[in-house]
Amino acid sequence: MAEKGISRKELAALLNADLAREYQAIIAYVVYSQVLKGAEYMNIADQLEQHAKQELDHALTISRQIDYLGEMPTATPKPVKLSDKPREMLRFDLDNENETIRNYRERIRQCEELGEFAMAEQIRQILVQEQDHQIDLATALGEDVPDVGRPARGGK
Ligand SMILES: [Fe+2]
Ligand SMILES: [Fe+2]
Repeated sequence: MAEKGISRKELAALLNADLAREYQAIIAYVVYSQVLKGAEYMNIADQLEQHAKQELDHALTISRQIDYLGEMPTATPKPVKLSDKPREMLRFDLDNENETIRNYRERIRQCEELGEFAMAEQIRQILVQEQDHQIDLATALGEDVPDVGRPARGGK
């Protein structure tokens, strides 16, 4: 993968993929927070409702950055998987948060490469919340928080 020379247009396209993931997260959390049933899931269902609202804020922030770069924000979410099994729903959410975190870590680096430090800062603030979502979901699943690293980089 090229380490240099990302253009503003390429960054906008990557942000549009991020935006599609934010829409996916909004929809997933709206649905899952209401259909998760059972005493052991009450706490996480409340947390998912909070996540839904934060994902909407993320979508607004990301679409503002895409517009600032002179491109049109996408209107299409990535598809949302449904399940009638609570653990499976939480697993989908955790997998998606891991993917989102990998991407935002890379995006921050790319924004900084382009000298877009304010944009990098906005995404950093989103990343803090995504890591909280990841912790909430891993905790609900009774797992350690996964170390997701960064995309497309082997080794260390
Ligand atoms: Fe988000
Ligand atoms: Fe999230």
